[in-house]
Amino acid sequence: MTAQNSSSRPSPRTALITGASAGLGVEFANQLAARNYNLVLVARRKEKLEEVAEELANRHGVSAQTFSADLSEPSAPKTLFSEISAAGIHIDYLVNNAGSAGPSLLEGDDWERQAKFLELMMTSVTHMCHHFIPPMQARGFGRVLNVASFAGRLARSAGGHYGPSKAYVIALTEELDLMLKGSGVQASVLCPGFTHTDFHETAGMMEMKNSLPSFMWYDAEVVVREGIEALEKNQPIKVSGRLYRWIDPLAQSVWVRSLIKAAAPGR
Ligand SMILES: NC(=O)c1ccc[n+]([C@@H]2O[C@H](COP(=O)([O-])OP(=O)(O)OC[C@H]3O[C@@H](n4cnc5c(N)ncnc54)[C@H](OP(=O)(O)O)[C@@H]3O)[C@@H](O)[C@H]2O)c1
Repeated sequence: MTAQNSSSRPSPRTALITGASAGLGVEFANQLAARNYNLVLVARRKEKLEEVAEELANRHGVSAQTFSADLSEPSAPKTLFSEISAAGIHIDYLVNNAGSAGPSLLEGDDWERQAKFLELMMTSVTHMCHHFIPPMQARGFGRVLNVASFAGRLARSAGGHYGPSKAYVIALTEELDLMLKGSGVQASVLCPGFTHTDFHETAGMMEMKNSLPSFMWYDAEVVVREGIEALEKNQPIKVSGRLYRWIDPLAQSVWVRSLIKAAAPGR
């Protein structure tokens, strides 16, 4: 892992954002820097991270450091925590945002690929919380925003293990919210619907993206702003986008779940 210091103007607080080389992560970094947070940016692509760090440090006058890490590697969160601590950086705001679409569960015989996906989507999020939250508790201040998905609110729609992995992140965050009451540390989970980022192109899902009506898609700016505001208001779960907030109670109803089950392929 590497670190690069881009610029500096002392600021009391630092935000760590995973998946900060593209999409929602870049926008989280932008909006948190605009709120005067120094940045620690994490993803695999070092050059992309450095571009983002330099641009945001210049735009907002904060410091921005980059750590390249593959969060599908089991040791990555511990190594990150050790490197960041050794650099004398305290993390006050943690955004667990890195993620991908993942492989089809029932195709192929490459379990290692499946295991890496689950490591990235669930275990790394839990592992990051394990290391970075206790120092926040000790200082009496911290903010944790875990990025799940509206797919985690459905999670029984025959869509494979992406939805269930996000359902875990939602449940984990609800649990953290209860465990952290009164500590000065708050945890919220953000559940975006379809959002314009690199996500679908990276996953080879552009045909699906182009087939969906534009009203189902939101810009990263809106999704990230709603997530940050939810955490500021201490709302444990935030479904972002008016459309998805409207659908959410219906999606939770047993009747709608039965309809989704009935419509699943092969029924
Ligand atoms: N876009 C949507 O419609 C949508 C909807 C609901 C939820 N989400 C969730 O939002 C989060 C952000 O996704 P996005 O839409 O912004 O996608 P994106 O534009 O593809 O960005 C994904 C980010 O995650 C990083 N990443 C992927 N695998 C990684 C790994 N193994 N280790 C470290 N970093 C990794 C990528 O960086 P590197 O490639 O440089 O590592 C990139 O910075 C994800 O958790 C996703 O599940 C997205």
